[in-house]
Amino acid sequence: MSDFHYSDPIATAARYIREGKLVAFPTETVYGLGADATNPMAVSRIFELKERPTFDPLIVHIGSIDDIGRYTHKIDSRVIKLAERFWPGPLTMVLPKNDLIPDIVTSGLPTVGIRMPNNDIALELIRQSQRPIAAPSANKFGRVSPTHPDHVRKQLPDVDYILDGGRTLVGIESTIISVTEKGFSILRHGIITREEIEKILPYCGEKPSKTEEPAAPGMLKSHYSPNKPLYFTGDTLPANLNKKKAALIAFTLSDNNEYATVLHLTSNANLKEYAVNLFAALHQLEADSTIDFIVVEPVPETGIGIAIMDRLRRAGFKYKS
Ligand code: TXA
Ligand code: MG
Repeated sequence: MSDFHYSDPIATAARYIREGKLVAFPTETVYGLGADATNPMAVSRIFELKERPTFDPLIVHIGSIDDIGRYTHKIDSRVIKLAERFWPGPLTMVLPKNDLIPDIVTSGLPTVGIRMPNNDIALELIRQSQRPIAAPSANKFGRVSPTHPDHVRKQLPDVDYILDGGRTLVGIESTIISVTEKGFSILRHGIITREEIEKILPYCGEKPSKTEEPAAPGMLKSHYSPNKPLYFTGDTLPANLNKKKAALIAFTLSDNNEYATVLHLTSNANLKEYAVNLFAALHQLEADSTIDFIVVEPVPETGIGIAIMDRLRRAGFKYKS
């Protein structure tokens, strides 16, 4: 490729987006695999490259609060209030879409998940491309999300372009809510917690009733899986497994020489710090040939701990006996 790449990566990436190509880019949560959300051909390539089933809709990333009204309708003042409080930031709102968003983006749903990411590279990419950008996390479907460009290169070596923004600052994906007449429901937990959102809108429960929005179609029981079994410290391990070939991801436990490796993702039981480091630890352990399986000490299920335990349970789901 030309050295234009090196002189102005964002301008190059923006041109790629306009040409219908795929660009991996940093957000504050995880790296996204982006395409022009208004171009169905470009969006179909996201599903192909990720090997993602087409029933799993994509989040659309916008560059300003004013753009909500360009791609959605029936927006009321509560939605604007939420956007003003949490954007740019890791909150995705599921809202009624208009015709500018093609059906392939939303898997045929009448709603679209929309957010304004809190990352300068992402925002500049959206502005320079002058397109809303549809982007799932830039990993193969069901696998561990990327928090560093190396994680993207490992899983998606054929992506057209990667914008390198270093490590992401939040580390787990955005909180997804649906806003209904009565208030909000949580479709996916993240670092923006129920308690924070409740200061603005009443909470209507985790699982919306049948007459309201369906829960996030992509929230499958098995997800975020490393390529090795993952268990919790309380689980009964299969008899053939030897902890000497295992890594422990500790939370409060101190060094424990039963295991080959002990990883501490936070030094002072800080759940935010734990979340930032979680996916990078799973990527590291995937690549470590001395490790056959992973054991995780559960974290307390309050605040951000809810989102962390949600990711860990799904990561271990397929190994549950
Ligand atoms: O932090 C994030 O949200 C990252 C960054 C890249 O923005 N993106 C992300 O996208 O995590 P993805 O595709 O890995 O997860 C999006 C989730 C899926 O579970 C999907 O089912 C749900 O959002 N979703 C998207 N549109 C929806 C809609 N209209 N209704 C319900 N759920 C929706
Ligand atoms: Mg994902």
